[in-house]
Amino acid sequence: MSNQKITLGYWLDKWQNYGLREPIEMSLARSENTHFMGIGASGSGKSYALHRAVAQLHEAEPHGEIIFANFKGDETFSYLNGLPRYFQYKDVFAALDIVYSKLCARLSGEDMSENPVTFIFDEYVSAVLSQQAEDKKAATQTMSRISEILLMGRACGRASVRFWCFTQRCDSAVFPLGSREQFGTVIALSNISKELKTMIFSEFPEDFENKKRFKRGEGRILQNGAHLSHIKIPQVRDMEAVKALCRAALSKPL
Ligand SMILES: Nc1ncnc2c1ncn2[C@@H]1O[C@H](COP(=O)(O)OP(=O)(O)OP(=O)(O)O)[C@@H](O)[C@H]1O
Ligand SMILES: [Mg+2]
Repeated sequence: MSNQKITLGYWLDKWQNYGLREPIEMSLARSENTHFMGIGASGSGKSYALHRAVAQLHEAEPHGEIIFANFKGDETFSYLNGLPRYFQYKDVFAALDIVYSKLCARLSGEDMSENPVTFIFDEYVSAVLSQQAEDKKAATQTMSRISEILLMGRACGRASVRFWCFTQRCDSAVFPLGSREQFGTVIALSNISKELKTMIFSEFPEDFENKKRFKRGEGRILQNGAHLSHIKIPQVRDMEAVKALCRAALSKPL
């Protein structure tokens, strides 16, 4: 069982005002809500932040299992193409099937493994909206399975099944009001739309009063629904090392 932490970034205000690098961490402990959501417009730094987080996750939980679904199948992650745990474009739904089966096997007691499973989904909302346009029934099943992972993932078997969801859009048809509460950590990078503010941070109107502007890799972070802070995701010193860790995590046989 993991009691490790990863560093998502640093407190932006302390960095800007005093040059202090004070880490903002996310616990991986099973007793915590380790579901994680990242939101932001194109180019705000979501995939970059995800890279850092996946590399640290692999180091913190070498015994863990990561499954990565990337609906956009973009250039950023093209070096992962062909790895057994990396699923692109419409294969993302096959990845969900695998994770969902694991969840069910753990809930039924058939699978007693102690390794945490992390299901990462880049561009989740676009994937579901596209599936909705083609096959409404399948899309409804996708959403209900994701809800089940969010609700039951912490309670199943001996180790968590967690969901890390990164998305540009946050359509209320896919993420109804209130779904944010299911994520222990939410980051919103760069400057977000009024709709997103209302959907995600409605309890924190004061944070929006000073109209702070964020650059790429900067934004808001909400942990356990209680603390809204500003985060800076620093530049990675050695991107090749980060990529090597991500590659190792996704090369494990399924
Ligand atoms: N914290 C950061 N420090 C330095 N460079 C960054 C940072 N975040 C992002 N970048 C750079 O900015 C560019 C856009 O970042 P990224 O691809 O992560 O955006 P994105 O939010 O995933 O966009 P999209 O939604 O289009 O996939 C990349 O070239 C990336 O290397
Ligand atoms: Mg991206």
